[in-house]
Amino acid sequence: MKRIINEMKLRLPADSRNEAVARSCISAFVAEANPTVEELCDLRCALSEAVTNCIVHAYRGREGLCYVYISARLYETREVTLEISDNGCGIEDIERARAPMFTTGDPTERCGMGFLVMDSFTDSLTVKSRPGKGTTVLMRKILAPVQGEK
Ligand SMILES: Nc1ncnc2c1ncn2[C@@H]1O[C@H](COP(=O)(O)OP(=O)(O)O)[C@@H](O)[C@H]1O
Ligand SMILES: [Mg+2]
Repeated sequence: MKRIINEMKLRLPADSRNEAVARSCISAFVAEANPTVEELCDLRCALSEAVTNCIVHAYRGREGLCYVYISARLYETREVTLEISDNGCGIEDIERARAPMFTTGDPTERCGMGFLVMDSFTDSLTVKSRPGKGTTVLMRKILAPVQGEK
């Protein structure tokens, strides 16, 4: 069993101001593991893309308070896992959604590269979705060993 060093759960209203809140929280969360600047930027960016998707796509046209759920774990093995979920519209065809440059958003604002960014900035990306129920994105990233430590 991989030992968990720390974990964090956040529930944020699906509002664009919370993209920055999520980025700040993940930075603070992984800081104790001494990530490189690049690893930190990768995690911030990947999380931001997933959170933005919940805000922009999942609850489009929905009235009332909607939430983005973020769960992060840091393991003794220096693995970081991020789980981002929503209770929004879901994704009909995940493979198509993950294809570069596919977007159902406003093409003047969105470029359809979010999943590609999440994929390339982490070690693994899993997308689960049920149309009408919501979407969960799981990402894993293994941080490099700290210099001078075993
Ligand atoms: N959480 C989500 N809920 C519903 N649809 C989503 C979600 N995340 C992604 N999608 C769908 O996948 C598409 C591709 O996402 P992405 O690669 O981030 O590009 P973009 O956000 O620029 O459209 C989106 O246009 C949308 O149709
Ligand atoms: Mg996106």
